[in-house]
Amino acid sequence: MKVETLRWIDNKLEMIDQRILPASFEYLAYDSAASVAEGIRSMVVRGAPAIGVAAAYGVALEALRLSSEPRHSGLDPESSALKKLDSRLRGNDEAEDFNAGMEAGFTVLAQSRPTAVNLFWGLQRMRAVWESVQGQSNAAVAQRLLAEAHEILAEDIRINRAMGAFGAELLADGARVLTHCNAGALATAGHGTALGVFRSAVEAGKKISVIADETRPFLQGARLTAWEMVQENIPVTLITDNMAGFMMSRGEVDAVVVGTDRVASNGDVANKIGTYMVAVLARRHNIPFYVACPLSTIDMSIVSGADIPIEERSADEVKGFRDYHWAAEGVSIRNPSFDVTPAELVTALITEKGVVRQPDRDKLRALFK
Ligand code: MRU
Repeated sequence: MKVETLRWIDNKLEMIDQRILPASFEYLAYDSAASVAEGIRSMVVRGAPAIGVAAAYGVALEALRLSSEPRHSGLDPESSALKKLDSRLRGNDEAEDFNAGMEAGFTVLAQSRPTAVNLFWGLQRMRAVWESVQGQSNAAVAQRLLAEAHEILAEDIRINRAMGAFGAELLADGARVLTHCNAGALATAGHGTALGVFRSAVEAGKKISVIADETRPFLQGARLTAWEMVQENIPVTLITDNMAGFMMSRGEVDAVVVGTDRVASNGDVANKIGTYMVAVLARRHNIPFYVACPLSTIDMSIVSGADIPIEERSADEVKGFRDYHWAAEGVSIRNPSFDVTPAELVTALITEKGVVRQPDRDKLRALFK
C-alpha cells in the first residue's frame, strides 16, 4: 500500500491522521490556513518535510478561501453613477482584505510548531511566489499558489528518492540499521528520508533489517516506523529507547540512520528527543551515525545548534499515553520534544546532492552554490 501522507481532493487538503495510527487509518480534510495550522500543532501531520508541504498547502487554501468570499462595498450598485465607484472601492477593499487575510494565514501557520525549519522554508517559498504575482486577480494568485504547493509536494518525493539512492550505497547487504522516531513516508510527501534510505536499499536488492526505537513519549517509532516497515515487509524489530545501548554493545547494530528537523550551518543536527543519546552510543561503539537531510532542512542563518528553538510539549505526553496516566500525580514534568546532536558525532549527512562526510560550515555552504 502506497502511503499518501497528504493528498489534494475536491479542493481540499487531506492528511492521514497520524495520531490514531496504527489502530485506525483515516484522512482528515482541511480548507484554510488556520485549520492546517491546527493539524500541524496537534500532530495530525508531523515530520519536518511533511510539515513544510502542509504549510505550503495551508497558504494556497487560504488564498482560495479568501478569493472565493463575496464582498460588497456597501454602496447601492443599482445607481449607475455609483456603479463605477462601487467596483473601484470594492476592488481596493478586496485587495486589502485579501492581503490582510493572507498575512494572517502566514502568521498562524508560522506559529504552529517551532523546531522544524521546513515549515518556515515552505512559508518563505510560498511568500516569494505570492510576491511574484502581486497585481494579478485574487483567483489567479490562488491558482498560482496552489500550483506551487503541488510542486513542493512532488519535489519532496523526488528529493527523497535522490537521498535514498545515495544513502543506500552506504549500507552493506545484510546491514542491521537502527533508526529513531519516524522519518518515513509519513514524515514527508512520500518515500521518506531515513526510511527512504531503507526503501531504496531494499529496491536495490539489499537485504537489510531495521531496529526501530519506540521513541517516547509520542511513540513515532512504535506506531509509525514499525507500521510503515511492516506494510512493506521490510524486517523490523521494535525496542524501547533504553535498549539501544545494549543492542550496540552486543554487536547487533551496523549503522544508525535518522532524519532531522533542522541542521545548523556548522552541521549540528536537531532531531527527535533521544537522538543525541543514540549518537553518543554510536560513537562509543564505532557505529556510523548518518543523518538523512534534504537541503530544505539546513538552516544557514544560524551559527550552531544552540540557536535552534526546541519545542516543549504538553506534560500529558510524559504522564502516560492518551487518557491513561501512570506518573504519580503532582510530579513536575519536562517534555522537550527535540535535542541537538553536535556535528562531531555525525558521520555524514545524506542529502539530495550527495553524501557530506563530517559536515562543517564550508561543506554545507558548498551545497548551496
Ligand atoms: O515531533 P515530530 O514527529 O514531528 O518529529 C519528527 C522527527 O523528529 C523526524 O525525525 C524529523 O522530522 C525528520 S522527518 C523526515
